[in-house]
Amino acid sequence: MKSRWSYNSNSDLCWQARPLSEHLDLSHYQSAFYAYDLSYLKTRANAFMANAPENSKSFYALKANSHPEILKTLKISGFGLDVVSRGEIEKGLEAGFLGQEMIYSGVGKTRNEIEFAIKNKIHQFNVESLPELERISELAKKMKISASIVLRVNPEVEVDTHPYIATGLRENKFGIEVRDLQAALPLLKNAPHLQFKGLSMHIGSQLFDLKAIEDSILKLIQIKKDIEDQGLQVERMDVGGGLGIHYEQDLEDEEHKMLENYMALVQKHLGNFSGEIQFEPGRWIVGHAGFLISQVQYLKKNSHKVFVILDSGMNHLIRPSLYQAYHEIFPMKKRGGSELVDVVGPICESSDILAANRNLTELRQDDLVVIADAGAYGFSMASQYNSHELPVEVFFESKV
Ligand code: LLP
Repeated sequence: MKSRWSYNSNSDLCWQARPLSEHLDLSHYQSAFYAYDLSYLKTRANAFMANAPENSKSFYALKANSHPEILKTLKISGFGLDVVSRGEIEKGLEAGFLGQEMIYSGVGKTRNEIEFAIKNKIHQFNVESLPELERISELAKKMKISASIVLRVNPEVEVDTHPYIATGLRENKFGIEVRDLQAALPLLKNAPHLQFKGLSMHIGSQLFDLKAIEDSILKLIQIKKDIEDQGLQVERMDVGGGLGIHYEQDLEDEEHKMLENYMALVQKHLGNFSGEIQFEPGRWIVGHAGFLISQVQYLKKNSHKVFVILDSGMNHLIRPSLYQAYHEIFPMKKRGGSELVDVVGPICESSDILAANRNLTELRQDDLVVIADAGAYGFSMASQYNSHELPVEVFFESKV
């Protein structure tokens, strides 16, 4: 199978580095940077939209990557935004989205954030607890502006992903337990400034387990029936985000097939639903579109190991340290040979490892490496730990 990363026989640059090097002058490299392929991003965004049912709206989860250029591109493709903080609402507004194009999730919404969201006429609050519902009710009443409410249900479905990014279990802080939903109904029926709109779920991220998603949708549909029997109308069904991407191999065709199967199961169960079906994708849209380019500072050998020390570490890309996540790493220039190395960053933590025991072709001081599939949860989780600068972000179009 052809890898996106295979080296071309006519060139010593890796495949993906060619469009990068055509658009960016890499000889003036000064510090680590993220590069995003906007044309690839559009392809993913359009594929998602093309497969989604007609009566659906897709809200890009900008926690994955909130660069204004990316937000503007996704706005043109027809996305709204799934936001989780005042800061994210502000970023959305600055990129040209209206409050009505945003849904607001998150377990810890402060008074200040809720007021800001109400003022901006947010499309809906995805409410994660009863105390949050009471808080929104009080503030909407005080402001004399009505707030649209969707209850985020914790469907208690087990799903196969890293435990830090599973969200649909009783052990997780997310969503309202099914047995607590009843307690929310009287307030929703009787508060004129609260408009109940529907139900939502999001059971985790980096999911390949469509069965778990299907089970959760079925639970949501049962809850919809129960709630409607009690006199409330469900106009919106938010099935969340979470579709996974492949980091270890180039399996893009399978990702598209999974998208089709996912949409087919949504159609199968919600085909009769005439309201608004909602999606909150993040990683699937932007994950493959970004690369982190970093430079070898030192090769350090001890009696055990060879360390390739880069000017990027967990401060720029925390996923390998935090979730033991795998990212392909490619020397920009192919030299030959191969060696088992640990690729590490400059941070004063032993967990600052981008890849452990990785076979890479020969690297020398000052060589550049490309760290792949870093478009989602890369820059957005970057920090200035150890007072290093944040990487810059640049854009290119591999197809014009
Ligand atoms: N909706 C809600 C309510 C979410 O919490 C998330 C992600 C999404 C949508 C988008 O999920 P996606 O389609 O991107 O899987 N930092 C981790 C991922 C954390 C996901 C948090 N919530 C990582 O790097 O793998």
